[in-house]
Amino acid sequence: MPVTQTLEADVLRRQDPELAEILLAEAHRQSTTLQLTAAENFASPAVLAALGSPLANKYAEGYPGARHHGGCEFADAAERLAVERARALFGAEHANVQAHSGSSAVLAAYAALLRPGDTVLAMGLPHGGHLTHGSPANFSGRWFDFVGYGVDAETGLIDRDQVRTLARAHRPKAVVCGSIAYPRHIDHAFFREVADEVGAYLIADAAHTVGLVAGRVAPSPVPYADIVCATTHKVLRGPRGGMILCGDELAGRVDRAVFPFTQGGAQMHTIAAKAVAFGEAATPAFAAYARRVVANARTLAAGLAAQGLAVTTGGTDTHLLTADPAPLGVDGRSARGRLAAAGMVLDCCALPHGDGRGLRLGTAAVTTQGMGEAEMTRIAALLAGVLRGRTESTRARAEVRELTGRFPPYPG
Ligand SMILES: Cc1ncc(COP(=O)(O)O)c(C=O)c1O
Repeated sequence: MPVTQTLEADVLRRQDPELAEILLAEAHRQSTTLQLTAAENFASPAVLAALGSPLANKYAEGYPGARHHGGCEFADAAERLAVERARALFGAEHANVQAHSGSSAVLAAYAALLRPGDTVLAMGLPHGGHLTHGSPANFSGRWFDFVGYGVDAETGLIDRDQVRTLARAHRPKAVVCGSIAYPRHIDHAFFREVADEVGAYLIADAAHTVGLVAGRVAPSPVPYADIVCATTHKVLRGPRGGMILCGDELAGRVDRAVFPFTQGGAQMHTIAAKAVAFGEAATPAFAAYARRVVANARTLAAGLAAQGLAVTTGGTDTHLLTADPAPLGVDGRSARGRLAAAGMVLDCCALPHGDGRGLRLGTAAVTTQGMGEAEMTRIAALLAGVLRGRTESTRARAEVRELTGRFPPYPG
């Protein structure tokens, strides 16, 4: 893997053996355990190379052709390339690729459209909303008046009647659709209709699904939302970062909301890496990858359900699924600990209508490694065996080692 290659070139090891050891240990962890965290992936060596490129040294406040610093000709070229590739990939009139993260993108979207104290209707956090959708611990909950919609207790699907009723009652300035844990496609046309009825903006937070949209396996929010916020990591498989898409009429407001309102200098090495990722995501190989990600998630969901876990909505349309391990006699938090000890890394998530916490799993990383549906079925059985206490963690670790040995994240 690239980080190992750099270390093998002895640059970091000679200069800073202490940090080199830490990076090698992380490389080892990533390649010998199963990365089932729904938000993670393995960026390509080309993306990692761009991140470690000389653009990491460059200051470039402003936008291409209008910078506050000199020497920006190549920074401008990299940013223009990233913007053009993003626009083409998502069919958007305007793209801002400077947001440092998904949260920064959401902050900028709010800054472009809202004033402090405005009412916003978004998915409630216990139902799958992100921190930036109204958590009191976050700028969103502190500066705006959030109203939360949720999912139906029976079906686990977004409660459309509730969305409509809350919109009519609270007349929000913006409606947000998008989630950290919702496993089904989001009906953007429905949210557009609700927003239009009450005169609200529609913000799509597509942090999780944007890679599936790029791979043409999930519906695009671009034709419906006033602003689309996204991350460039996760399924999209780029560097950690954010992105905003919108129409021409909001382009100036969005750009000013990113810089100078919420950010300073753009991270040009990350923008270069975003350009690489957008280029990769436009290929037929990426579309095939996206299809495999969803097929794997469906098989994993079916496997877990067959093993007795309560899978929310009974399956998934995306790369992620959530499940309650309670039927196996274990709560989400202890399940995560037991699975980590067995070499299976995943997250806990809120259970909207249950007690305690569930598990959230994703297939973006294991699919990048080349694993397929046979491996998903095996992972589901292994996971359930560990949770039932029938598979010792040492035996599970050996199975995980066997799998990751056959499917290394960075072959060769
Ligand atoms: C729906 C949603 N919005 C925003 C974010 C924030 O992204 P970041 O962690 O890059 O700030 C996430 C991250 O998981 C997310 O899932």
